[in-house]
Amino acid sequence: MTIDRRSFLKQTAAAFAAVPFLTAGAASADGFRELTARKTKVRLADPDGPTSDLWGYDGKVPGPVIRAKRGETLRIRFRNELDEPTSVHWHGIRIDNAMDGVSGLTQEAVKPGDSFDYVFTVPDAGTYWYHAHNKSWNEVARGLYGLLVVDEDEPLFAPEADISFVLDDWLLDDSGRFDAASLGNMMDWSHGGRTGNRLTVNGVSRPDVVVETGRWYRIRLVNACNSRILYFDPNRIGAKVIAYDGQPVGEARKLGYSPHLIGPAQRVDLVLTFNRPGAVPISLETEDKPYPFATFRVAKGREAAPALPAIPAPGLPVPDLAAAKHFKLLMEGGAMGRIGHLTYEGKPITRQVMMQTRRMWGFNGITNFPDEPFFSVRRGETVVIDTVNQTAFPHAMHTHGHHFQVIDRSGSEVAETPWRDTFLIGPEQTTRIAFVADNPGKWLYHCHMLEHAAAGMTTWFEVT
Ligand code: C2O
Ligand code: CU
Repeated sequence: MTIDRRSFLKQTAAAFAAVPFLTAGAASADGFRELTARKTKVRLADPDGPTSDLWGYDGKVPGPVIRAKRGETLRIRFRNELDEPTSVHWHGIRIDNAMDGVSGLTQEAVKPGDSFDYVFTVPDAGTYWYHAHNKSWNEVARGLYGLLVVDEDEPLFAPEADISFVLDDWLLDDSGRFDAASLGNMMDWSHGGRTGNRLTVNGVSRPDVVVETGRWYRIRLVNACNSRILYFDPNRIGAKVIAYDGQPVGEARKLGYSPHLIGPAQRVDLVLTFNRPGAVPISLETEDKPYPFATFRVAKGREAAPALPAIPAPGLPVPDLAAAKHFKLLMEGGAMGRIGHLTYEGKPITRQVMMQTRRMWGFNGITNFPDEPFFSVRRGETVVIDTVNQTAFPHAMHTHGHHFQVIDRSGSEVAETPWRDTFLIGPEQTTRIAFVADNPGKWLYHCHMLEHAAAGMTTWFEVT
C-alpha cells in the first residue's frame, strides 16, 4: 500500500468520537426525498488542515445514507447543481432498468439545473451504495457517492450495533488538497487506475467508534475507491462474514482464506463481538504491517454476547447450468498488454488514436462503447460468462441489475459460491460466472476500476 504513512500518523485519530453519518433529507409532500449533487468544500487531511474542492450529494462526502426496508419503494428527486451532466446509479440493486442511472444507456445524463425522479423498489436487504454514472472516473473521484442500506423485514441489529465504514482513497497534492489536476492522468489509465495517498472512512481519517463488550456488531465495509483493491483480514479481529455485495451468505462463516481482498465497489458485511474493554484497531493489510483505518473504543458492557441473530439465506434464482447460454469476454490492452489490434469505432488503436480517444483497454477487441450488446438473452435464461483476463493487471468486473456466482477460476471449480455483483480477476486468470438473467433491460458489464471502464472496459448485455 502506498498511502503516505507519515501523513497518516500526523492525524489526530481521537478527534472523531463517532462516525458522522447523516440521514437523507426529509421527504417532500409528494413523498419524494431530495438528493442534490453540488460543489462542496471538505477537509480530507487534518481536521484543521486545508479544505478540498469536491462534489458531494447534498454537499456531503460521502452523501447522505439512504436507508430503506426490503420491498420499499424509494422516491428520490435528484437535482443536478453541478456544471456538468451527471446521473445516479444504485449499485447492486436488482432494479427496474429505467432507474439504473447509466447515462447513455438507460437515461440521458441530467443536465446542470435539471432534475430526475428515481422511483424504484429495493428487493433485497443488504449493503449497497449509489454513485455518479457519467464520467464516473471523474465524478466518483470527486466525491459523488453514498451508502444505501436496505434493512431486513426486522432489522437484525439495533441501529447502534450496525456500523458502516465507507472507505475511499484520495489523491492529495503537496498542500494536502484534493489533486484535481491529476484526474485523467494517462499513466493511471493505462496501469492500475487512479489510487490515492490518503484513506478516509465515511469522509474522515481514522474515526473512533464506541462499542461495548458482550454484544454483536454488524460492520458494513464498502470500497468506494476508484481503483484501489483493499486487503482486509477479518480473522485479525475475529470477525465472520455474513454477506458479500449485499447478499447474505446463509450463515456467519470464518473465511477459509486470508487476507481477503475487497475490490472497488465490493462490499463485505461482518459480525463481531468484543470480549474485553480497550482499544481495538480495525486494519487493512499492507506489505509491511497492518494499517489501521478506525479504532473501536470498547467500553464494559455484558460479560458474554447472546446468540448471534439468524442470518437469512439468499433468495436469488439458482442458475440452470445444463441449459445455460455461454459467452466469452476477452480482456486485453493496458500497459504491457496487447493493444495493436484493438479498435475504436473501427479504427485501429494507434498511438495517435489512443491520445485522442483515451482508449487503451478492450473487450473482445473493441474499445468503444459497442452499439450492439455483448449478448442478448431471453428473460429467465441462465447465462454463463467466461471472462478471460489477458492483461497484466487485476480488474473488478461488475454486472448491472443481476448478482452472479463465480463457479470456476482458471479451470478449478470454486467451492464457495456466494452471490456477488462484482468480482476480482487476476492477471492471466479466467473466471466463469453464472446467473439467471431475470431482469429485463439493457445492463452494463464493466470493470469498476473507473479509469479502465472509461478507457474501454465497458460493454452491455440485453435481457428481453
Ligand atoms: Cu457501481 Cu456501473 O457501477
Ligand atoms: Cu480494470
